[in-house]
Amino acid sequence: MKKSHLDLKILVIDDETSQREILSDILSDVGFTVITAENGEMGLELLFRNNCLLVLTDLKMPGMDGIEVLKKSLQFDPEIQVILMTAFGSIPNAVNAIKGGAYDYLTKPFNKADLLRVIRRAADKVQLILENRQLKEEVAQNFQYHQLLGNSPAMRQVFQIIDRIRNVDATVLITGESGTGKELVAKAIHFSGSRGKNPFIAVNCGAIPETLIESELFGYARGAFTGATRNHAGKFEQAQHGTIFLDEIGVMPLPLQIKLLRVLQEKKINRLGSNLDIELDVRIIAATNEQLEEKISDGKFRLDLFHRLNIFSIHLPPLRERISDIPLLTRHFIRKFSERYQRQNVRLIPAALKKLERYSFPGNVRELENIIEKTILLNDSPNISAESLMFDETQPSKKTSLSMSSTLPQMEQDMIIEALKASRGSITAAAKKLGISFKTLQYRIGKFGLDKRDFKN
Ligand SMILES: Nc1ncnc2c1ncn2[C@@H]1O[C@H](COP(=O)(O)OP(=O)(O)OP(=O)(O)O)[C@@H](O)[C@H]1O
Ligand SMILES: [Mg+2]
Repeated sequence: MKKSHLDLKILVIDDETSQREILSDILSDVGFTVITAENGEMGLELLFRNNCLLVLTDLKMPGMDGIEVLKKSLQFDPEIQVILMTAFGSIPNAVNAIKGGAYDYLTKPFNKADLLRVIRRAADKVQLILENRQLKEEVAQNFQYHQLLGNSPAMRQVFQIIDRIRNVDATVLITGESGTGKELVAKAIHFSGSRGKNPFIAVNCGAIPETLIESELFGYARGAFTGATRNHAGKFEQAQHGTIFLDEIGVMPLPLQIKLLRVLQEKKINRLGSNLDIELDVRIIAATNEQLEEKISDGKFRLDLFHRLNIFSIHLPPLRERISDIPLLTRHFIRKFSERYQRQNVRLIPAALKKLERYSFPGNVRELENIIEKTILLNDSPNISAESLMFDETQPSKKTSLSMSSTLPQMEQDMIIEALKASRGSITAAAKKLGISFKTLQYRIGKFGLDKRDFKN
């Protein structure tokens, strides 16, 4: 008996009392912790309540049989190891059980040595699973930065960057899809840094009408325009000695981009309708869920402003690319919403977590948060199963740059045309750009009926 098996729990389910007692004695003699149940229903109940991953169950029982126990166990936690005890002659059943995900089976009658051999092998496997889970848990507990959680390599890197930049005043550009936590990162930088006791002012550039952004940001003097009946401090002034968070910077109109650039260079502002310079001591953090590079090449975003904002950049990958953050975030949201809605002992059964880990989360962390909130609100049972998860049907589907109507040959042709344009009809240069050989490109140009001479200018 390996020392590591000492505190391992085994659930024994059998309707015959004498059989239960014998098994229980043998297993506890060698150091396992044994719990027993006289039928499948009670067995599952115990299984779900105890942190138990090893089940030894009789196949034929009145009521719920062993196959059903197996199925329900795996629905609860796909890593539970079930060993079935079958009567001599019911081999087809045993084969079905293995197909259904059982760890192994024992054909009755079996002796003590047979039993211990199978159990110990299964126990080794369970031990590994438990160690793995423990490790994940320990790692998970170490990674939190203010309200930001994450233990994926990507998030740890984000934490490192925050740590390095929180006490300097350089601008930061945070990029990432909607719901990835950009605002939370901005707050983590501000509140953990030297400006943390001063204001954090968030401005959503996309939510303010274009005509109002300027006065919102810079304020105005009395009489600057009709209706300006008094002096008004803009967001920059409100953020004095603190941080201004310019969200959705990508939609800022070009004329305002010029003004912002000037603020960044000169570190002072004028209220609208006033010539008085106001010295600014404000840290600027900007965020966007758009591809600014694209906007720049379209002439919709100024390159010089981009460089000014992008002194430090933090990119938050979509949640589907950092699956290892899902358990931690899920637990966090369960805690948050059980408290808010006064629910006790809410927990996600392992199969439900597996389902979340396979989901694509077009709405990222915000969507996960919404799913957990809705699920807790609409579920009476404290155990959240895979089926009871309330996925949000209204989330926008994942953005892709390729429209689904374009076919592969169409895309290929478009790429070749692009490359030929860029290289002004030089096949050698275009082939190099595309990463294919001269001959291949020549063949494809012929196939698509293109003429390199059309791309000379
Ligand atoms: N790493 C994280 N840890 C804990 N909560 C997070 C994390 N990331 C995001 N959240 C939560 O998810 C929600 C969305 O985050 P946030 O508003 O920061 O996203 P965003 O990137 O600014 O989205 P948008 O582009 O739509 O404005 C918030 O409720 C936030 O608290
Ligand atoms: Mg945001």
